[in-house]
Amino acid sequence: MSIKHLCFSLILLLTLAFSAEASLNVISINYPPDKSVREYGLLGVSLSFTKGSVDRIMVRINGREESTIIPDIDTECFEVPIEPGVNKVEFIAYENGNVTANKVLEVFRRSDLISEYRKVPKGFKVDSFHMQVRTHCRKCHVLDPSEYDVKPMSPATFTADNFDSKAVLAATSTCYSCHKKIMSNAYVHGPASVWSCLSCHDDDSIPEYAVKTPDTEMCYECHTEQKKEWLSKKFVHGPVNIGKCTICHSPHSTANAFNLFKSTWDLCINCHAEKADGVHIFADSLFKEGHPTRDREDPINIGKELTCASCHNPHASNYPHLWAFEVNSLFDLCRKCHEKYSTK
Ligand code: HEC
Ligand code: HEC
Ligand code: HEC
Ligand code: HEC
Ligand code: HEC
Ligand code: HEC
Ligand code: HEC
Ligand code: HEC
Repeated sequence: MSIKHLCFSLILLLTLAFSAEASLNVISINYPPDKSVREYGLLGVSLSFTKGSVDRIMVRINGREESTIIPDIDTECFEVPIEPGVNKVEFIAYENGNVTANKVLEVFRRSDLISEYRKVPKGFKVDSFHMQVRTHCRKCHVLDPSEYDVKPMSPATFTADNFDSKAVLAATSTCYSCHKKIMSNAYVHGPASVWSCLSCHDDDSIPEYAVKTPDTEMCYECHTEQKKEWLSKKFVHGPVNIGKCTICHSPHSTANAFNLFKSTWDLCINCHAEKADGVHIFADSLFKEGHPTRDREDPINIGKELTCASCHNPHASNYPHLWAFEVNSLFDLCRKCHEKYSTK
């Protein structure tokens, strides 16, 4: 090999090594770390990249394309939805159609409603975002609660005509700049809807922003009527009895009425799976199909669908099987909806 060739090879090697190095550094993940744990369905992400070497970033969750980001500054932040269980999160960077970097991490979303996802698997750990100083984030974000966060505005302001909630929130709530998507569902919970985040999250606690446990300690602080009513009943529903309101209700927002994590029927079936076949109460030789539990109109709550909660109170009742309507016998229950069983 001539000296010229040797030089050429060296340069080639160096160039290769350099470009491999550059490719690795094209994109860096500021947040989240690998193998962290989430309680609910959103993952906050912050990425930085070498200016001018990335024109598109594709975000994939469990192999499915979630979103594409066209970066205009050297840091991009976004929130992506995640599913219960382990989520494989991929960031694929492109420049002129060529892949310039591919970073992968895993996040576990815990779920009380799915038994196999109740426990955090080995290797994953809760990474309390707010327990670290986060100097990098502070370059652009305010992280300490403002006066407004501690004493939010009245809900009435929000419903006033021409109220630009986005602009006001961005200017007043510290939490809004990073957590805006947490409230982007159709059904929003009272205090969260006005970004009164600190009414449940304690900014003086360790870990930072912890909530009281069990949930009843927090929920009953405002829902005093419900507390009085339900605790006075003879029978309290299993999950309510152990103080787990957030097994069924989101404290923030969901796509279902009453901020339920699933529609009522699906929610009940989640734990009472044996009722899913629809064959419920008096499935005998006369009524092989049993009684309908959905897809019919509820005769009492006109305009609403018949569900499990049409006959059962999801929280508490003085009557066996958590019957709704304060009825004492099976036939009194039937009579609530079926006049033909009425003796009158
Ligand atoms: C170079 C400036 C910059 C830095 C540094 C930065 N961010 Fe951001 N981030 C922004 C901007 C700008 C927005 C959009 C704010 C808005 O729309 O109100 C944003 C929004 C967000 C969002 C919400 C995205 C959405 O649309 O829902 C999250 C989450 C976020 N940042 C997290 C972080 C975290 C965590 C860090 C530190 C690791 C960080 N950011 C560092 C500029 C930055
Ligand atoms: C710089 C962006 C940023 C701001 C501002 C911010 N958060 Fe967060 N917060 C995050 C990120 C990122 C996480 C991790 C969870 C996730 O992926 O979204 C998080 C997690 C949390 C958690 C879960 C516990 C933890 O520490 O991981 C709570 C509760 C929380 N934030 C409440 C708040 C409240 C309340 C405010 C306003 C007073 C606020 N956050 C402001 C970015 C931010
Ligand atoms: C009614 C009480 C309540 C209110 C109001 C509330 N939260 Fe929460 N939040 C909770 C509970 C309960 C949890 C679950 C905590 C846990 O299990 O560790 C939670 C968890 C979180 C998490 C962690 C999510 C995850 O996936 O790990 C974030 C982020 C958060 N809240 C942000 C906010 C923000 C921002 C606001 C204001 C818009 C807010 N919260 C208002 C009760 C509340
Ligand atoms: C800071 C006070 C406060 C706390 C704490 C609180 N709530 Fe609420 N909640 C409200 C307000 C205000 C409303 C709206 C009342 C209304 O619309 O009638 C509401 C409404 C609700 C509704 C009814 C929604 C609807 O569509 O009718 C549910 C369900 C609910 N809360 C569950 C909970 C649960 C579960 C917790 C505990 C995780 C909790 N709340 C904690 C203030 C609170
Ligand atoms: C097993 C699931 C489940 C649990 C656990 C649960 N709820 Fe509910 N909750 C429901 C359902 C379903 C509805 C809607 C009922 C309907 O359709 O009429 C509801 C409705 C509500 C409402 C609005 C209607 C009303 O009765 O005032 C409030 C407030 C509420 N729940 C608060 C709570 C609180 C506080 C806890 C914890 C003590 C809790 N829930 C626990 C399923 C549940
Ligand atoms: C998170 C799991 C869970 C969810 C969701 C759930 N339940 Fe339950 N349910 C239980 C447990 C635990 C018990 C108590 C165990 C027992 O007594 O058999 C129970 C008991 C009951 C009982 C009393 C059983 C009896 O023998 O008297 C009824 C009725 C009932 N649930 C109806 C419902 C309805 C209606 C829903 C939907 C609104 C629902 N459940 C959602 C866990 C759940
Ligand atoms: C039309 C009224 C009605 C509807 C709708 C209804 N139930 Fe029931 N449920 C009853 C009656 C009545 C009993 C008592 C049956 C008996 O004594 O044999 C009962 C008993 C139960 C029990 C306790 C006894 C058992 O069989 O395990 C559970 C749990 C239960 N229902 C859950 C549900 C769930 C979940 C749904 C929705 C899929 C539902 N129910 C829908 C009327 C209803
Ligand atoms: C919450 C209201 C409600 C309660 C309580 C209720 N049902 Fe029904 N029931 C319905 C609805 C809705 C249908 C469906 C009617 C239709 O398809 O048009 C139905 C259908 C039936 C049918 C099928 C024939 C028909 O009339 O359409 C029978 C039989 C029946 N119910 C018996 C009972 C008995 C027995 C009880 C008491 C154990 C009972 N129901 C409790 C709402 C109720």
